[in-house]
Amino acid sequence: MASAALIDGKAFAAGLRARIAEGAAAFAHQAARQPGLAVVLVGDDPASQVYVGAKARACAEVGIASFEHRLPADTSEAALLSLIERLNQDEAVDGILVQMPLPGGLDEAAIIAAISPDKDVDGFHVLNAGRLSVGQPGFIPCTPLGCLMLLKDRLGDLAGMEAVVIGRSNIVGKPMAQLLLAANCTVTIAHSRTRDLAQVVRRADIVIAAVGRPEMVRADWIKPGATVIDVGINRLPPEEGKAKGRLVGDVAFAEVAEVAGAITPVPGGVGPMTIAVLLRNTLEAAHRHAGLPLPEGL
Ligand code: GUN
Repeated sequence: MASAALIDGKAFAAGLRARIAEGAAAFAHQAARQPGLAVVLVGDDPASQVYVGAKARACAEVGIASFEHRLPADTSEAALLSLIERLNQDEAVDGILVQMPLPGGLDEAAIIAAISPDKDVDGFHVLNAGRLSVGQPGFIPCTPLGCLMLLKDRLGDLAGMEAVVIGRSNIVGKPMAQLLLAANCTVTIAHSRTRDLAQVVRRADIVIAAVGRPEMVRADWIKPGATVIDVGINRLPPEEGKAKGRLVGDVAFAEVAEVAGAITPVPGGVGPMTIAVLLRNTLEAAHRHAGLPLPEGL
């Protein structure tokens, strides 16, 4: 019998999108235009195509204009940089997202560096990463900001809590650790070279799993009552007679739910938050661009 409370990211994201829709309508009234997000997809990676389609639909639902740019896999770096420069200058575009990963041959760091930091709604530009690390306002990567929102909603003030982030990517692990530090947690970043990972995780009041390894985090790693946030989305090999395998996180959900105080499910936990926060960041970019304050509750 599971004892942990379920953290319903799907419901929280729906509430956030409703507040964004109100904010976008008020913005359109004040600025006489919709907030705008440009989404750039290079190549035909199937997962990226699904994400980009979902982002465009989510924009439409909240009243954000989306401008999709789908480019062939053999697009040159010069052509991509020139598109980004055009979007940087475009007054109708408040946010720019270049879907990662990019096809081989394109330098992701150079592409991210070309995006105007004021339109970098992914928060991937080094200037925004630096702002986060020194506590200046800037754009914060969507997935970790979504995790922080779920944690604050569940736990309130996080000050003094022990947080262990498993994974050190630039997109999730590192910005997640910065956000938890800014919220006055005691933060450990664990990774593939951490010695006795289970022992490290056992001291955590808050566990963030973001490694991309199916069901790696086990029940005996978890302090009773801890809050567990599972960022992983992994597809298992299909069972016999099935076309597709099950989606699982980085946490062995059923057994960890016996020990944890609260846990995010996969799917329906962190996943729905990422796109909702992207919309939130786009709305923030639009307000900054127009010199307007962001409404409360976002
Ligand atoms: N690929 C996987 N996640 C993301 C994301 O949050 N932003 C972008 N641009 N690409 C991604």
